Amino acid sequence: MTPSPIRAAERYAVIGHPIAHSKSPDIHVAFARQTQQELTYEPLLAPLDGFEATVRALMAQGGRGANVTVPFKIEAFSLATILSERARASGAVNTLRFDAAGIFGDNTDGAGLVTDIVVNAGVAVQGKRVLLLGAGGAARGVILPLLAEQPAQLVIANRSSDKAVTLAGQFASQGPIVAQTFDALDGQFDLVINATAASLADALPPIAGSLFGPHTLAYDMMYGAQPTIFLHFAARHGATVRDGLGMLVEQAAESFLLWRGVRPDTASVLADLRSALGT
Ligand code: ATR
Repeated sequence: MTPSPIRAAERYAVIGHPIAHSKSPDIHVAFARQTQQELTYEPLLAPLDGFEATVRALMAQGGRGANVTVPFKIEAFSLATILSERARASGAVNTLRFDAAGIFGDNTDGAGLVTDIVVNAGVAVQGKRVLLLGAGGAARGVILPLLAEQPAQLVIANRSSDKAVTLAGQFASQGPIVAQTFDALDGQFDLVINATAASLADALPPIAGSLFGPHTLAYDMMYGAQPTIFLHFAARHGATVRDGLGMLVEQAAESFLLWRGVRPDTASVLADLRSALGT
């Protein structure tokens, strides 16, 4: 009788610079354990000028896919030979899958955000008035999945207002998206999403407290042991607040599904991360 072959664990990684503090390895190892998938997942620090070489080395060593984080999401977009529609729309790739046909690039960030808001927080986007703050890569990546939820209106505001105008123009055929300057924003919003990098610098985008009310969910894509200054401000003006930890876990689940064909249960993984953060 021939012994059945021992299958080597399939290899995945997250590539970024810096990478040491990434939570993705913990998340994917937890997903693999939960779904009984044989895989390894490691952090890979790529030199700033060495993203492509790092990807090619991983592929040469039998890697099956990778997550891509700051600052390589645009390079990953260029490297991919086949793109999902949502990756093409966002101009950035956070998930690579190495297939016989080539390098498939996807962007799961927007789906992660929407799942965290709609499923985990239980807040529907359909028919709502939504404000998206920022017009960089983070904002661009979530516009298509947000519009797919059919909000009544998606307003995009950015410090450099021309960038917001350009983005709104690019997505105008996909749904009711308009650009406004910070000064022109008025009335309350049902959902306000902070996709600016302001929280990283402990800064607040120039928004009025009157945008928030008791029916507002204020969402910051950032997360940390303490609520961001944006979430503090929104809570002070009556909003319910939520940080981006759930988005992180949900975008990972969407990548895992793309690679393995199984959707892991995210609730327990998110709860473990929250308790490790102490929030
Ligand atoms: P990311 O990929 O995280 O979106 P990015 O492409 O550099 O990074 O974009 C950063 C976003 O945060 C931009 O919308 C930026 O506004 P500008 O286009 O006007 O630069 C926004 N941003 C950064 N710091 C900010 C601050 N202190 N207040 C308001 N917006 C800020």
